[in-house]
Amino acid sequence: MPRAKRRDLLSKRVLGYVNWHRGRKYVHRREVLNLLTHDLTERKPDHIAVTGDLVNLGLPEEFIRAAEWLHHLGPPRRVTAIPGNHDAYVRLHPERGTRHWQPYMESNEAGELLVPTPPTLFPFVRRFGDVALVALSSAIPTMPFIAAGKVGSLQRGLLGEALTRLGREGLFRVVLIHHPPLPGQAGWHRGLRDAGRTTRVMKQSGVELVLHGHNHEQTVFEFETVSGPAIVVGVPSASEAVEGRVPAARYNEYAIARVDGGFRCEMVGRAVADVGEHIWECERRVLRER
Ligand SMILES: [Fe+2]
Repeated sequence: MPRAKRRDLLSKRVLGYVNWHRGRKYVHRREVLNLLTHDLTERKPDHIAVTGDLVNLGLPEEFIRAAEWLHHLGPPRRVTAIPGNHDAYVRLHPERGTRHWQPYMESNEAGELLVPTPPTLFPFVRRFGDVALVALSSAIPTMPFIAAGKVGSLQRGLLGEALTRLGREGLFRVVLIHHPPLPGQAGWHRGLRDAGRTTRVMKQSGVELVLHGHNHEQTVFEFETVSGPAIVVGVPSASEAVEGRVPAARYNEYAIARVDGGFRCEMVGRAVADVGEHIWECERRVLRER
């Protein structure tokens, strides 16, 4: 985190700044992130999805550093990012904030052909062969100590339309959202305010996989949709590692393949074994056979 100027702290940020120096900086560590990032890029995945948060206080300099990190992961055509609650920590002019990540937060040509991006920029769709990513923003500025999020009725409506259309095309639909989408996955202070309504849209339109962050915890849930089961996976933070504490920093790899009458999807978890040491395969699990 960059050093904050006094005028940048005249807001909710001052509490976050104190929080950071009191504890978070010992938990979220750059060397851990670097170790994980290195392992990830070495394995040359087809695509990387980053579900936020990317910054802490929303200082203008943090957005630039986060953009550099995204660039280090790969070019925008191979990396998709969505904002988290910290990325909307304070109301910041977009030019100084998430605009720096714009190339990572827009549809590709194949996605745009199927589902055009609305003027509000979310949801945007990217398509890679049989896989379509539908990227939502649940980031909203909130009062201090509140880390809640919201999809909103406009995005929910467009999400339903996008999922229906992509389902008709027979694609494997992956929704990206920062906050855990199911009701009860996070409390009022830090949860998705319209979790119930968002989940209902996904049930009615169909989705195969939902990826989220925010809880800093590995979780797998399943719910039924009109087109079969949907799997919801939460991933731990990519920088959080305190010796001996679980969950350690981790990312998940997904192998998605078309099989007879459906899709097979296998998840491989890769985590920091011990601070500053190495990355190991901590889990391998078939999420769906077809
Ligand atoms: Fe978050």
